[in-house]
Amino acid sequence: MRLGLRALALTSLVTCLACSGQRAPTPSPASAPSPVAVGAPTGKYGEVKGVELVPGGVASFELQGKVERAALSQVTVESQPFERALRLEIKERSGNPWDVQLRLPVARAVQAGDVLLATIYLKAEPGHGDAAARTEFVMELGREPWSKSVSYPMRAGAEWQKVHVRYTAQRSYAPGEAQLLFRLGYEPQTLLIGGVSVENFGQKLALSDLPTTKLSYPGMQADAAWRSAAAARIDQLRKQDLAVLVQDRNGNAVAGADVVVHQTKQAFGFGSAVVAQKLTRPGNEQYKQLTAELFNTAVFENNLKWQPLAGDWGEGWTVDVALKGVDWLAQHGIQARGHVLVWPSWKNLPRALKGLEKDPAKLRAAVNAHITELAGATRGKLVHWDVLNEPFDNHDLMDLLGEDVMVEWFRAARGADPSAKLFINDYAILAGGPGTTPHRDNYERVIQLLLDKGAPLDAIGIQGHFDAGLTGPEDVLELLDRYAKFGKPIWITEYDVDIDDEALAAKFTRDFYTAAFSHPAVQGIIMWGFWDGAHWHRNAPLYREDWSLKPAGQAYRDLVLRELRTDVSGKTDARGAYKTRAFLGSYALTVSVAGARKTVPLELANGSKPAVIKLD
Ligand code: XIL
Repeated sequence: MRLGLRALALTSLVTCLACSGQRAPTPSPASAPSPVAVGAPTGKYGEVKGVELVPGGVASFELQGKVERAALSQVTVESQPFERALRLEIKERSGNPWDVQLRLPVARAVQAGDVLLATIYLKAEPGHGDAAARTEFVMELGREPWSKSVSYPMRAGAEWQKVHVRYTAQRSYAPGEAQLLFRLGYEPQTLLIGGVSVENFGQKLALSDLPTTKLSYPGMQADAAWRSAAAARIDQLRKQDLAVLVQDRNGNAVAGADVVVHQTKQAFGFGSAVVAQKLTRPGNEQYKQLTAELFNTAVFENNLKWQPLAGDWGEGWTVDVALKGVDWLAQHGIQARGHVLVWPSWKNLPRALKGLEKDPAKLRAAVNAHITELAGATRGKLVHWDVLNEPFDNHDLMDLLGEDVMVEWFRAARGADPSAKLFINDYAILAGGPGTTPHRDNYERVIQLLLDKGAPLDAIGIQGHFDAGLTGPEDVLELLDRYAKFGKPIWITEYDVDIDDEALAAKFTRDFYTAAFSHPAVQGIIMWGFWDGAHWHRNAPLYREDWSLKPAGQAYRDLVLRELRTDVSGKTDARGAYKTRAFLGSYALTVSVAGARKTVPLELANGSKPAVIKLD
């Protein structure tokens, strides 16, 4: 697990535009995702000198691992406090960030508790996949168990930016035992790194004496223009007049009756990824109770994936376990979505399938048989199926069988389960800042191809795994428009925000949910797990491992359980009428007057007529 501070950085251009509240111009692919402010250090920093751990500068780092995937050169830099930088062109993507890295062994000893400050300058060159180049700065033990003192993801933009990373040594390292790294095993990108210094202040300074780079995003200010526009759309799209006429048994108006309007369910989908085993086995009470309290929709994180169901993950992964999970959810009023029928790369497919690599006809039949079998087993029980996952970098099957095979997968799913809405799903669509990227272009292209060829594609899934590349709400809305133009509903299928700054994560979560909720095409937001104890990055949006509520958890509770629900009361007028503006969804209406009392259910949808409630 990561330790220390994390976050990132940005170009002065974007920082400055965000300050003035203007929108950034259409960015180049390498424009950086979000602005930063450098925290003011105390006076002591600058007076005290630390021990430099990188005396030879950035040039002393060496490329390590699958070095053939990167081209390393030195470049001359102007108008910066350093004259030379390393230029790293990543030519081929890696499965793990550590597959390719820059490495420098630390010649000096470092004691547990020492206070350190890394200063790093970064810049991206345009031209490759993601919106911005990325790396992760790490200091760790140079052998098993790779004990880390810091692990700090960073994004680079089109301009040089300075990043301060302050951290405390989490253990002692003898001379030569620790290593400093810049991870490079990502998508193709070109990154420049210069001006690297790592100073060890020992115990002479406190962490708080040191400067730090604070992450932020455009549009986070309280008076940002997008907020009022989003509020107006929310009122128009997500609310209706809820009108009640209260009458006595003879049909006469009852004036002065108390009306309590209690929303029992939201029409908009608010959900989480869940683990079926945790819901269906004894124990896990907190997990179960919160799932039921916080969500109306759920997706299984892994229970319906082909690889585990094929037995590659060992015991305990059966369709039966997933179906028990679906039952549990249904009993708690939660609809279940299915994830995922085909994740078409060898690394995400059952091992055995690779044996059919040389026999395309059998391979094709095996994939179709899997879809028919699994979607048949869940027939009528799931509201959605993700038919196809992450086609941008999972395409081994398409490479062998041709892209039209994707159309076949959708047809097979529809045939096996006519009621589930069929989705495509991908990542790096919203995360990573604004602008156009090959990943985003490809998603548009694949969706268009599916529609052109008549695939029964009902809806578009957009994941939303954010890290240092936070995308501001206005850019999120613009990116959503890009996929809304297909006229299909959109669901945010896998929201999370993997940064260390909990206060910022709370702000971002609130703003992201608000923006997505305000977009006409979006019908639901699913987070990818809500608790650190069951989250792929151990950094879930809502609850820490000990079940304490994170600031983002509080923000979610305030927003989704209170502000985006209607719970109001009032009295009927002389005509026996009561009216309020209310969020779409299910209600329990309680009417009482002079001892008589009645509770009735009500569904508030677009075009709902006034409800007549007769008191006996
Ligand atoms: C992840 C799960 O969270 C992990 O537990 C599992 O080991 C790997 O898959 N995009 C997706 C999800 O579509 O299926 C991935 O889930 C996260 C990224």
